[in-house]
Amino acid sequence: MKIIKVKTDSKNYDIKVGHDLLGSTPLKKLVSQKDILLIIDNKVPELLINKLKNNLKKSSSKKINSIKINASENNKNMSYLAKVYDFLIRNNYSRDCVIFGIGGGITCDMTGFIASTFLRGVDFILVPTTLLSQVDASIGGKTGVNHKGFKNMIGTFNQPTQVIIETKFLKSLSKLEIQCGLMEVIKHGLIADKGFFVWIEKNLKQILSLKPQFIEKTIKKSIEIKASVVSKDEKENGLRAILNFGHTFGHALETIGSNKLYAHGEAVALGMLAATKLSESSSDLNPKVFNRVHSMIKNTGIKVKLKKKIIPKELIKLMQSDKKKNNSQLKFILLKKIGEAKIKSISNEMTIENAIKNSLFY
Ligand SMILES: NC(=O)c1ccc[n+]([C@@H]2O[C@H](COP(=O)([O-])OP(=O)(O)OC[C@H]3O[C@@H](n4cnc5c(N)ncnc54)[C@H](O)[C@@H]3O)[C@@H](O)[C@H]2O)c1
Repeated sequence: MKIIKVKTDSKNYDIKVGHDLLGSTPLKKLVSQKDILLIIDNKVPELLINKLKNNLKKSSSKKINSIKINASENNKNMSYLAKVYDFLIRNNYSRDCVIFGIGGGITCDMTGFIASTFLRGVDFILVPTTLLSQVDASIGGKTGVNHKGFKNMIGTFNQPTQVIIETKFLKSLSKLEIQCGLMEVIKHGLIADKGFFVWIEKNLKQILSLKPQFIEKTIKKSIEIKASVVSKDEKENGLRAILNFGHTFGHALETIGSNKLYAHGEAVALGMLAATKLSESSSDLNPKVFNRVHSMIKNTGIKVKLKKKIIPKELIKLMQSDKKKNNSQLKFILLKKIGEAKIKSISNEMTIENAIKNSLFY
């Protein structure tokens, strides 16, 4: 097992990463005097959850309940969460409780949000079960729910008291879920750690086949990168935006596909290609980098081609309207080189159009 210590202005806590740690990880200090509620994604295999439940029974003499949720973007909203608040109130949970979120990014975001708001804030522990949530969504303290079609519109910044990452959960995920999680891993290498990027290049096969020591290192390094950015800028006042590398283009592609055509990771993969190409013209990135990024993404097996024809001007318009909603300028995360990113406003639309054409049209 590996432990990563996270330090932020609001809280310091541990992230534990390991293979088969749910039954053995010490929890007494965190839960012994607290009522416990487990919020569980109903698609997560029971067997592993039971190991955690048995561990909790040994660690706490107080009440332990669970509630299953159907994790989907359609249910990631306040009205779906009402049933969880109702349950907590009906069962007399006080501020002295701890809520576990066991599931993918949706479950982690919802759990963090409930824990931030129930009785003005209670402890929560995340047990992310998808690769994307293990390397990204459970790290950094952003919680949230969707509202009337707007993603993550209502939320908080709130850090958990611990994150427990069990790599065995990954076995029941589809290939696409693994590929999508890997896009965030590749992103972390590209923006902050050349050595890690090169290591992924060399070991991609073993990572994709979830060999324990390889997937463990992949997750650990990835978390270290995200946690280090978050600890410098917990509430996204500046630096944290570099974690959005590829996401400005990616979100626009998701919107063009009505959030159905592309899985998030597929859109981010194409977005990273466009952002890498844009970095050549706007950040002096060596043109050889694009081929390396393209090969790595392609070698994961994820699609590197558009599923539907797009008009670059329309994509740019979508990116601009997204920024207007957030009352901010259209900024891009660009690479200076592998392992180093910067944030830059680009007003010349032709430059952006060319990057889209030269990376995605072939
Ligand atoms: N808070 C953040 O910083 C942050 C960062 C990135 C993404 N997110 C959010 O995360 C969400 C996406 O996360 P995700 O990709 O994990 O999606 P998800 O939670 O929808 O999980 C993907 C699918 O896998 C299923 N699943 C979960 N664990 C499983 C397992 N072990 N075996 C089999 N099936 C399993 C889920 O039921 C779901 O159908 C989005 O809502 C996004 O907004 C948040």
